[in-house]
Amino acid sequence: MERAAVVVGAAEARPLIDYTEHKTDRTGTGEAEFDRVLGGGLVPGALVLLGGEPGIGKSTLSLQTAMKAKGKVLYVSGEESPEQVRLRADRLGTLGPELLILPETSTEGIVRAIKDHRPDLLFVDSIQTLHTPRVESAPGSVAQVRESTAELILAAKPLQLPVVLIGHITKEGAIAGPKVLEHMVDVVLTFEGDRHHAYRILRAAKNRFGSTQEIGIFEMRGDGLHAVTDPSGALVGNSDVRSSGTALAVAIEGARPLMVEIQALVSSAVYGTPQRSATGYELKRLNMLLAVLEKRCGFKLGASDVFLNLAGGIRLGDPGIDLAVVGAILSSTLDLTLDPNTALCGEVGLTGEVRPVARLEQRMMEASKLGMERLVISGMSTKGPDAPKGLKLIRVKRVGDLQKVLF
Ligand code: TYD
Ligand code: MG
Repeated sequence: MERAAVVVGAAEARPLIDYTEHKTDRTGTGEAEFDRVLGGGLVPGALVLLGGEPGIGKSTLSLQTAMKAKGKVLYVSGEESPEQVRLRADRLGTLGPELLILPETSTEGIVRAIKDHRPDLLFVDSIQTLHTPRVESAPGSVAQVRESTAELILAAKPLQLPVVLIGHITKEGAIAGPKVLEHMVDVVLTFEGDRHHAYRILRAAKNRFGSTQEIGIFEMRGDGLHAVTDPSGALVGNSDVRSSGTALAVAIEGARPLMVEIQALVSSAVYGTPQRSATGYELKRLNMLLAVLEKRCGFKLGASDVFLNLAGGIRLGDPGIDLAVVGAILSSTLDLTLDPNTALCGEVGLTGEVRPVARLEQRMMEASKLGMERLVISGMSTKGPDAPKGLKLIRVKRVGDLQKVLF
């Protein structure tokens, strides 16, 4: 087992060299994107926390994984009745007899069910509904969530039972109030996206058994979550014309290259204080880029409303999309369209310099795959990987040079 010995005082110190890596046998759940993010499947006894905002699709992902998984699966539903879960299951696929549903919020009851049924996999939906008489506070409180989790660990670990705990994340990004659970579990997955859009990203924020580089991309449809095998194609489309205010970025998210359309709307502020809003991109970073544009390129955007949006409801933290954000803002400000086969990647610094991005080669391949003919990159270094055939690299050293390159 990967965890420290459960019995107090039973551990013994031995030379580390005596221990060899033994390959953990993982069990594939049958839900490929889920397995990919886990690092190839579930490790016996692993405790996985699946977090996300209400309504994002945690229950859907869990239930469809439970339906695909082999062996006996116990699905604890503290929020929905078995009838409701059944209704959802009917939309998602076919049910086998080995999926057990338990409408239970008492941790003791769950522990009893684990001992009675000896499942191969356990889902708890959600950790915030659980309560244990050992602590007095209300369900959902920090003390309850922590104690209930500890009791589940105690019951599941000796049986090598993998557990997926669902946890609601508040707007501030905390699971169960503070991030009380993160250090107690082996894997922390977050499920995110815009509820009003179809795309969802599953990421590993922590993984004791694998890397946190992999992401899974899903589309929410009427019959559940479907893996998106060509995310760039889905997010960018194959349009021959682009409207003004849009630019294509080649980002890296996790270990995957991803092309997204950046949309900007710049208009003169009608009501006094100009508005700034960013969806899918950090607002602070947008404000920084606007200041750079004002100071280094002479664009007077101080009196303009600026709205920025990443198409598809995707949220990216890759600074490599800065250059495309600037491209979209310039395009909207000047009301000029970008060439539909030009993409951008580069980080913009405070002095207006365009910095090189990580994994340029992977980005070039992705741009080329999607039919791009030109890729605007940093001109700070002229060395670097060769571009694939048919893709021309355009190097810019400063954001101030971007306008004449693009239009
Ligand atoms: P849900 O899994 O209940 O979210 P969470 O458990 O994170 O709160 O799903 C949320 C939304 O997904 C719900 O509003 C309806 C929608 N949905 C679909 O679009 N298609 C489906 O097949 C299912 C089951 C749900
Ligand atoms: Mg739910």
